[in-house]
Amino acid sequence: MFYLLLIGIITLVLFLWRRNFKYWEKEGIHFDKPHMLFGSLTSLMQRKHNFGTAIYDIYTKHKEPFLGIYILFRPAILVRDAAICKDMLTTSFASFHDRGVYVDLKNDPFSANLFSSKGQYWRSLRTKLTPSFTSGRLKAMFPTLIESVNNLVDHISENIPDGDKGTVFEVKDLMSRYGIDLTASSILGVENNSFKNPFNDFRMVGLFFNSKSLLRTVQIAAGFLYPDIEKVMRFFGFRDKVREFMRKIVKETVEFREKNNFMRKDLMQMLIQLRNTGTINPDENHWKVQTVAEDLKSMSMEELSGEGFIFFVASFENAANTSTYCLHELLQNPDILEALLEEINEVLKKYDSEMCYDAVKEMKLLDRCIMETNRKYPFTILNRICTENYKIPGHDYTIKKGTPIVMSLMGLHRDEEYFPNPLKFDPERFLNNNYNSAAYMPFGEGPRHCIAYRLGQMNAKVAIVKLLTTFKFECLEKREIEFDNYGATLMPKGGVNIKIFKK
Ligand code: HEM
Repeated sequence: MFYLLLIGIITLVLFLWRRNFKYWEKEGIHFDKPHMLFGSLTSLMQRKHNFGTAIYDIYTKHKEPFLGIYILFRPAILVRDAAICKDMLTTSFASFHDRGVYVDLKNDPFSANLFSSKGQYWRSLRTKLTPSFTSGRLKAMFPTLIESVNNLVDHISENIPDGDKGTVFEVKDLMSRYGIDLTASSILGVENNSFKNPFNDFRMVGLFFNSKSLLRTVQIAAGFLYPDIEKVMRFFGFRDKVREFMRKIVKETVEFREKNNFMRKDLMQMLIQLRNTGTINPDENHWKVQTVAEDLKSMSMEELSGEGFIFFVASFENAANTSTYCLHELLQNPDILEALLEEINEVLKKYDSEMCYDAVKEMKLLDRCIMETNRKYPFTILNRICTENYKIPGHDYTIKKGTPIVMSLMGLHRDEEYFPNPLKFDPERFLNNNYNSAAYMPFGEGPRHCIAYRLGQMNAKVAIVKLLTTFKFECLEKREIEFDNYGATLMPKGGVNIKIFKK
């Protein structure tokens, strides 16, 4: 009897399994032929790629404007056509306003941050938070960035001997520490030095996020497309150290500031303003905030911690990647490096050699170099969930409500059709308009685009200007970077080794 039951269950599972992988065939659209165990993510499970580069791999294997894929077992649509992507993210936003990732406002308010939240709650939160990222606010936060970049420069200087002998540094590691410190400082309001104290808690969070284990790699993919897994984990009381740490940091910072009437020009101050008054003052010079009774506060400490957490996660690795890959490309392209140095020196002369916000804003070639870096090395994917049936413009197919949508930024940004000679680092393509602008989306597109893109760009620019004006560099080898099989972003295989000299 037992064996009969077992055979019955196995047969049923196999039947449902096979039926699941017939989904796209039945829908009658082009699809990526699934592996019987891993769907379209064989390369991820075989540890050849991380999630983003596995999706890129599928993008390059097909030519159709959109296709069915299986994120392990879950059917999803990969959109390859830039115009369709743009339509979904902008004009047809009403059908794609959510990401479809895990969020549970009622039972787990920590999860209801700007990235994950949905519908009207997201819209209201986005409107409230937007005034935190105006250029006036960024200008006021600028000194916190300078403190972090000075720690980076001090560390490099201390590790280069006097004379003309340089030292080889792994730049991704340097920039990751810089990214962690500047994020802790400019966002959470905590001064941190990952160079003097490499095992600090913030850095441990960073290392946890980029852990090389297969479990973590699968967790990242699941985080984007299997919200129910996290729901079940939370239901059973799963607690993770990262959340505990973030709660502690945010609580301590808020309590300290309120008790001592302490004010610092950073994002945490904006979040406290929002919590205490229900709004962020549109007057960019207004940073102070009065303490109010707990029951008059508009956000719980849990919600505040969740917001601090998502800003931290969204910021640190992007800052590290943009500055690392930009420096790498500048050394591979000495003529661009020379022109950039000329621009930097010329602009700084006007500002008595002081690197200030206005000076950096004036550096136009620098801006194009960062844009080109974000093109060639983007955050790998965008994702949405279809919230209303959507007929794909120009095609006879309607995407059903509830279908996950994936867009490969790496695919679009490295597609010859949209960016001629895509592997060439060519900042001038933005001057000559020699590309398809619908395909350029390093910060996403439409109402849900990156809320802090200007801060993101500034974080990298500050590092590049400071390093180029302080040190000399030697490119150790001419190469196209390959990417590793772990992490949520593009991880350079073998790191990025650069020799740095004192000037
Ligand atoms: C070079 C740096 C950065 C890059 C490349 C980047 C990229 C992105 C991308 C691709 C998205 C998804 C957009 C979409 O789905 O349409 C996004 C969203 C987001 N980013 Fe950034 N980001 C950067 C810096 C930052 C920083 C510094 C912060 C926080 C201070 C931040 C906070 C966020 C948040 C909260 C969202 C979700 C917005 C929403 O759903 O309303 N990002 N970012």
